[in-house]
Parts: sequence; structure tokens; C-alpha cells
Amino acid sequence: AVQLRFKAVQTQTPAALWENYRLPDNLLPDVYYVTLWPRLQQDDRGLYIFTGNSSVVFRCVKETDLILIHSNKLNLTTAGGHLVRLTAISDAPAPAISSTRMEVTTQYLVIQLNGKLKAGRSYELFTEFIGELADDLAGFYRSEYFEDGVRKVVATSQMHPTHARKTFPCFDEPAMKAVFHITVLHERGTVALSNGIEIETLNTTVDGTAVTITRFEPTQRMSSYLLALVIMFTVPTVFAVQIRIWARRKAVTDGHCAYALNLTGRILQFFEDYYKFPYPLSKSDQIALPDFYFGAMENWGLVTYRETNLFYDPLISSNANKEKTATIIAHELAHMWFGNLVTLKWWNEVWLIEGFATYVSFLGADYAEPTWNLKDLIILDNLHKAFAVDALASSRPLSSKEEDITRPEQISEVFDTISYSKGASVLRMLSDFLTEVIKCYHVKLMLCGHFQAVDTNGTVLLPMTVGEIMDRWVLQMGFPVVTINTVTGQLSQKHFLLDPESLVDAPSQFDYEWIVPVNWMKSGVEQTPVWLLERTFHSEMKTVGEDWVLLNLNLTGHYRVNYNVENWERILNQLNSNHQAVPVINRAQIVDDAFNLGRAKLIPVSLALNTTKFLAKETAYLPWQSALNNLDYFCLMFDQTLVYESMQAYLRKQITPLFEHFRNITTDWTEVPDGHTDQYNQVNAIRVACSTGVDGCQNLTAEWFTQWMQHPEQNPIHPNLRSTVYCSAVAAGGAKEWDFAWEMLQTASIASEADKLMSALACTKDTGLLERYLTFTLDPMKIRKQDATSVIVQIAGNVEGRSLAWNFITLNWRYIFTEYGVGSFSLSKLISGVTRAFSTQCQLDQLLQFKEQNADVGFGSASSALDQAIEKTRANMKWVSENQREIRDWFRAEAA
Ligand SMILES: *[C@@H]1O[C@H](CO)[C@@H](O)[C@H](O)[C@H]1NC(C)=O
Ligand SMILES: *[C@@H]1O[C@H](CO)[C@@H](O)[C@H](O)[C@H]1NC(C)=O
Ligand SMILES: *[C@@H]1O[C@H](CO)[C@@H](O)[C@H](O)[C@H]1NC(C)=O
Ligand SMILES: *[C@@H]1O[C@H](CO)[C@@H](O)[C@H](O)[C@H]1NC(C)=O
Ligand SMILES: *[C@@H]1O[C@H](CO)[C@@H](O)[C@H](O)[C@H]1NC(C)=O
Ligand SMILES: *[C@@H]1O[C@H](CO)[C@@H](O)[C@H](O)[C@H]1NC(C)=O
Ligand SMILES: [Zn+2]
Repeated sequence: AVQLRFKAVQTQTPAALWENYRLPDNLLPDVYYVTLWPRLQQDDRGLYIFTGNSSVVFRCVKETDLILIHSNKLNLTTAGGHLVRLTAISDAPAPAISSTRMEVTTQYLVIQLNGKLKAGRSYELFTEFIGELADDLAGFYRSEYFEDGVRKVVATSQMHPTHARKTFPCFDEPAMKAVFHITVLHERGTVALSNGIEIETLNTTVDGTAVTITRFEPTQRMSSYLLALVIMFTVPTVFAVQIRIWARRKAVTDGHCAYALNLTGRILQFFEDYYKFPYPLSKSDQIALPDFYFGAMENWGLVTYRETNLFYDPLISSNANKEKTATIIAHELAHMWFGNLVTLKWWNEVWLIEGFATYVSFLGADYAEPTWNLKDLIILDNLHKAFAVDALASSRPLSSKEEDITRPEQISEVFDTISYSKGASVLRMLSDFLTEVIKCYHVKLMLCGHFQAVDTNGTVLLPMTVGEIMDRWVLQMGFPVVTINTVTGQLSQKHFLLDPESLVDAPSQFDYEWIVPVNWMKSGVEQTPVWLLERTFHSEMKTVGEDWVLLNLNLTGHYRVNYNVENWERILNQLNSNHQAVPVINRAQIVDDAFNLGRAKLIPVSLALNTTKFLAKETAYLPWQSALNNLDYFCLMFDQTLVYESMQAYLRKQITPLFEHFRNITTDWTEVPDGHTDQYNQVNAIRVACSTGVDGCQNLTAEWFTQWMQHPEQNPIHPNLRSTVYCSAVAAGGAKEWDFAWEMLQTASIASEADKLMSALACTKDTGLLERYLTFTLDPMKIRKQDATSVIVQIAGNVEGRSLAWNFITLNWRYIFTEYGVGSFSLSKLISGVTRAFSTQCQLDQLLQFKEQNADVGFGSASSALDQAIEKTRANMKWVSENQREIRDWFRAEAA
């Protein structure tokens, strides 16, 4: 049976307050005064440390003789026999301290008092401490890089979600908002940044050391996880006093921040208008860091980024890099209002802020780059990703129970595809049927759930209240497949499960039924939308003759669609004769639905494959990418079997016209296509043509790469094409090409270029080189910790590296878990990435054995990814055995 973590994690009521991961509700912080002094040089014991002190003024709302405050890995200095000093903010003295100690498991500093704190009074708690400025990417941490051969150390922070307590003792829960007064002592010549603007800098000497003291404007009242601090040798790119972009000095002088700066003003403007609320702070800083765990973090007023996500250089970066920069900046800036100004009470509703930021990031970036069709691209980046995870019996509802998400690793785990991508998809659906309500829904945080939508005449627009409709999508996992029978007009819905035999043992109060908005067209003409309120419904969607119906136009609803055979056939006829009559998003969606319905045994797999035939005439990106993503699964399942050859032959046949098309419109690859998505599809054309052996493709990429090897200082390959050309050339080449790519990686001046080379290195067919590359991932001098996961996953994506990568993980799990397991994304991505192609009994046994043998080490944030991997492997095995013959026959017939 499938482990459902929402059952597994139920915790018993602990005996003592300090055993409970949640703070009691008797004390509330008002204001912190924090002073920190990071040392950017090692001390006598070879450690990097920071020292500091902190005062927190808090209010007592319920009488108590116990103070619990978060503190983790800090070494508190003793004062008067105790770890803290407590004073009262009034005439009456504070009760005396009876004892202080650390509770390591729940990460509390526990202060037992001799008397009671009185309700309504305020007190001040003072601590002094030493912490390690480790390179663990959590809390106040250390990042390093080289500039002109000199090693530079950066002190930076990642407080989200539960690491502020590793920097100073604090009430580290999102609802415990307070004002933070931050002061930093730092090495002369470095810049110190924090959430507020610098209001005073002073050069002085402390304990015989020359330092600069920077004091910051007090923050707004905010959650501790939004706090940020960076101390770095840097200069800004400045737009105005209020908007600054920071990075390594060299990156700034090379102009890598110019695009980000240019975007920021426009995107802030868009959101001010969208939210009808001015930007809430006095300044906006954004900074790129050499080592960073997440893609970016929305610290209020000081957003931190991975370098790849902030830098753009027109001569080096691809259009995909540019798009990523635009959407990530928009995502983080969207949080400056929603997430920071309006904060969640607790992490169980994370999907609201992350799903919303993901959804509106496409709107904000679209405003800044209106020619890119960004609003369509959310389909691939998020909706398809969400469908994939949410079709498993091990999925979870968007919203969790508050008491099920308490421990730090549980908190990390909810920052997943469901929160981000399904959240975005469901909110996009809501905004489609009710444009204005979505803002209300957010800004008032569900308060308007009872809102009944009416038009200006008072006509009721929705069958139920917004809250009643949304509950179905938010409180139960999964989504429906809506089926229309155009002979009878019967419309019906059913919980869609990729594996129809998987066991859903999580009960749903709505019995896996949804309230579904269904927009549709008949033979290309839009019709009046209907609501599917129950399991089945008799609709007007009947057809005669060649007429076809198409549901879920532009994929505005979070569901899949199935049709009766006759209608499928007519849709395919339409696609094969004139595909333009079907909206481009739906051309992509027909393919994606068909392949997934085929996986779920709702339609024959050969019908799914039939949806790829029209591609011979298709040049648009979305349908192609959707088909390639789906065929990718077939490749993974069959790349070590006999089916593979005819599959390659079919793909070669389909991609050849596209390859010719791009050769033609780029005048023999000398120009760049105009459209943003055409540029993407050009990459597809080259990638697939080269990997399936279309005449002239490998020669083309090898030629470019050879030219580059001859003149390393002058890369002739267009930035858009680099990923695919590097990979193709390294795959076709040997040690010489690999060594060259490795050397170029060492000298890459921008992180996105380094990423492309890092991926290409995983493309080699030489297992010796792949093994060497794997060992590099555990050596931070060769591969940064932040990149280790993606390198291992990429090696596993290469058929030659698949078992090597898996063996590597099983052998090194203990080490990987302890050294790399601090945060959230990386471990679960590692497990799901490396096991993606698993489809044999032997691989399943290995997975189960891995789970058993490492139970003592644990899997942390990868626990549910591991269970999903086991479920997926079983489903793959079954699928392969059931479909191999039909697929083989289809490809053999069509490849000819
Ligand atoms: C402090 O010293 C640094 C480096 O010595 C210098 O660049 C800076 O201008 C000084 N700042 C003030 C406020 O004097
Ligand atoms: C409101 O009613 C008027 C008069 O019946 C009609 O012309 C108009 O189209 C209606 N508005 C909407 C939004 O339905
Ligand atoms: C679907 O999206 C396209 C853009 O790709 C847009 O032009 C069209 O109006 C949309 N159609 C519907 C029914 O929303
Ligand atoms: C797929 O297409 C072929 C050729 O057009 C057709 O003979 C076959 O019936 C189709 N398969 C399905 C399941 O519709
Ligand atoms: C190439 O482009 C020319 C002019 O745009 C066009 O006439 C021709 O049909 C194209 N050929 C292919 C194979 O796309
Ligand atoms: C590419 O093809 C040309 C002509 O067929 C040939 O001269 C050249 O050596 C080939 N280049 C590579 C790198 O294989
Ligand atoms: Zn976010």
C-alpha cells in the first residue's frame, strides 16, 4: 500500500511544552535589537565565526513562569550564571531566573522562572552568543568565490523557513511578527546590507580590530524568516536611490545586472497597479550570491538570488536564461506584497503564497516582456508538472492541517510542486472564471470565501460561493478527468489516477468530486461555458457529421479531458488537415492528455501516439515541447530495448521537416528566429535531429564545437543553442571534448554558462568520465554544493550513467544526507531525478533495499519523494509489460 504522509506524521500531544514544536501562545515579540559581527577570516581553530547579541522585547499575554524561544546551534554566553538576562519594561521587577538550558530536538532555549510573568506587561530578554559562519547555506552562513585569483568570503543569510534561530534567539514562527533593529560590525571595505536601508555607517576600532559599523533602518513589522543580511565586497548597479542590484564586483562591472535592474522598475510598477497598493518599503535591494540554496528568496527589501537567476549577458545568456530571470524576479517581487506584507499564519497554507506568486510571476513578466507569450508558457512550466505529481495516489491536498506540519523537515517538504505549480494552476483557473475575486481571495486570505459572485445586474454568476467551489480543489488531493460523449451528450468526471489500480486510502470529505468550470468549442467556435457540478450531467455537447468538440480551452481548468472514440478521430482529422483551427495551447494539451490517458488505460496507447502525427506539419513550440516531454517517458522506458530503434526512426521522420524549417528561416543557421518561442523550438529541432541522427545535424554541432576548441577565447555558438550543441558535441566526442568543456567550466564568467557546461559534461557516453564526474559532486572545490544534485540527476538522465548514479547515491547516502540535507528541494529532487527511468524488478528491489538499509540515516525532505519513486517504479513496470507490444508495433508501422 502507499504510504500517505498525512496519516503517518500524526504526532501525539507531547508531555511538556518544550517537546512541542510549536511555540505556546503566551508571549508575543514586539521588537528586536540585534547586533552581529561576522568574521571573514578563520580563527585560531580554523573556524569562521560570528559573534553577536540580541535583545527582544516581548509582551506577556497569558501568565507563565516559562519562556520558550527558538535557538539552534548558537553558543550562548553565560551572564550571572544563566544564558540570558531578563528585565521588565516597567517599575515592577521581572521574576528571577531559576534555570536556563537548551532543548536540542525542538530547538528551544528554555528559561524557567521563579515567579510568573504578568499578562499585559512587557519584558526584555538579552542574550550574547557565538555562532559558526559555516558553508551550510542555512541561517547566517558563508559563501566563497575567487576574484582575480583572490579568495573572497561573503557572509550571507537564508532564514527561511526556520533558520533565523540559527542566527540569534527568536520567536521563529511566521505569525510572530516584530520590528527588527539590525546593526552589523564588518570588515572595512565590505558593504553590509539588510532589509532596511543603511542609516549610519561608522569606522571605528573594536577590541583592537578596525571595523565599520552599519546600522539599518528598523524593519516593518514582519516575520523572522524574512530577515536578511549580506556582508560582501561589492558595488551596486543603481537605478535610483530605491532600486539597487548587487553582485560580485566583476559581475557588476561586466554589466550582468543591467537586465535585472531594467526589469525591476517595470515589474514593481505592474504589481503596484495589480495590487492597487504602493510598494510597501523605502528601498528594493536584490543581490546575487555565489552559493545559494533556493533559486531565490523573497527577504523583504533584500531579495537574494542564485547568480544564474539574476544575471543576464546578451552575448552569453540564452533566451531561456533571460526568461528565467524575468519570471523569477517577478515571482520574488510579487512576494513583497503577498507573502511579506500579508503573511500566512502557519506553513500549512504555503500554497497560497507560493502558488499565487508563481501564477502572477507570469503576469508581471509578461508586462515587462509583452512579445514573449509568457502567459502561454505557464502550461509547460507549471501545469503539466503539477498534473504529473497530482495524478499519483501519494499526492496531497494543497492545504494541510496545521497540526500535521510542525517539524522543520515537514515545513521544508510543503515547498513542493503541489504548492507552487498546482497552486498556480488552481488560482489561474479561479482567476479565469472570476477575475476580480482572486485578489479579494488573496488580500483577505480566504475571508471572502462566502462571496457570491454577481454581475452588475445582480445576476448570480456562479453555481455556489467561491469558497464552496475552491474547497473541492484545495482540501482534496488530485483532479478529475472530464469525459464527454458527443453521441449522448453525457458529461462526467472521475478522479484521475495515472495508475488506475493505485490505492487511494486518504478519505476525502468531497468523495473525490469537483465543481468543474467547462469551457468548450464546437468545430473551432467557442460555446457558452457550463459547470459540471456532479459526477455526471447531460449536456448539449452533441455533434453530428464531422463536427468535433474540444473542452478546457487554453487549459484554463485544472483537469484532463477524454472523448468518445468518434470525437477523438474527428479531432485528429482536424489536426492532420488544418491544425491551426485548434488553439495552440490545446494542440499541446491534446497530446498531453492523450498520453496520460493512455498511461491510465482510459484510451489505447496507440491513440495517444496518433496525436503526434500532425507534428510533421507543426512548427509551434508548445505542441512540440509537450510531445517531446511525453515521448521522453517512452525513451526512458525503452532506451535499453529493441523498441528504441524504430522509435528513433519515427522521431527522425517527424523532426526532419522542423529541422529543415529552421535551417530555412535562419538562412542555414546564420540568423536567429524572431519569436521567443520559435527560438525555443529551434533548440528542439537541433536537439532531436542530432540525437536521432538527422543528416547534417551532428556534423553541424561538431563543427561549431571544434571551431570553439580551436579558438577558446571566441565562442562561435549562439547562446540559445549552447546547451544543446555542447551536449551533442560532448556525447559524440571523447576525453578531448570533455576536458575542454571542463576547462571552460573553470573559466566561465557567468553562472548560466557554467550551468550549460555542467550539463553537457553529463552527456558523455564514456562511463569512465561519468564516474569521475560523479566523484566531483562530493568535492565542493570542484562542484558547488548547490549544484551537486542537478549534476547527479543529469548523469542519471544519460542512459550510460543511470546505474552509475544510482550506485553512487546508495553508497554515499549517509554522507550526502548529512552534508547536503539542510534544506528542502535538493534531496527530493535527487531521489525523484535519479529514479525517473526505473522500470524493472531489479530496480524496484534496489529501491526497497535502499529504503530499508538507510532507515537509520533517514531521508528527511526526500521521504515522500522516495515513496513516490517506489510507486512510480511499480507503475512503470506494469506499464512497460502491458504496452510494449502495442508500442513496438505502432512505431514499426509508422517509422517506415
Ligand atoms: C571607512 O573606511 C573605508 C575603508 O577604509 C572607507 O572606504 C570608507 O569611506 C570609510 N567610511 C567612513 C564613513 O568613514
Ligand atoms: C444588465 O441588464 C441590461 C438590461 O436588461 C442588459 O442590457 C445588460 O446586458 C445586462 N448586463 C449584464 C452584464 O448582463
Ligand atoms: C487562448 O489563448 C490565446 C493565446 O494563446 C488567446 O489569444 C485566446 O483568446 C485564448 N482563448 C480563450 C478561449 O481563452
Ligand atoms: C491510429 O491511426 C491509425 C492510422 O491512421 C489508425 O488505423 C488507428 O486506428 C489509430 N488508432 C487508434 C487507437 O485510434
Ligand atoms: C524555405 O523558405 C522559402 C522562402 O521563405 C520557402 O519558399 C520554402 O518553401 C521554404 N522551404 C522549406 C523546406 O521550408
Ligand atoms: C562535416 O562535414 C564536412 C563535409 O561533409 C566535412 O568536411 C567535415 O569534416 C565534417 N566535420 C566534422 C566535424 O565531422
Ligand atoms: Zn516564492
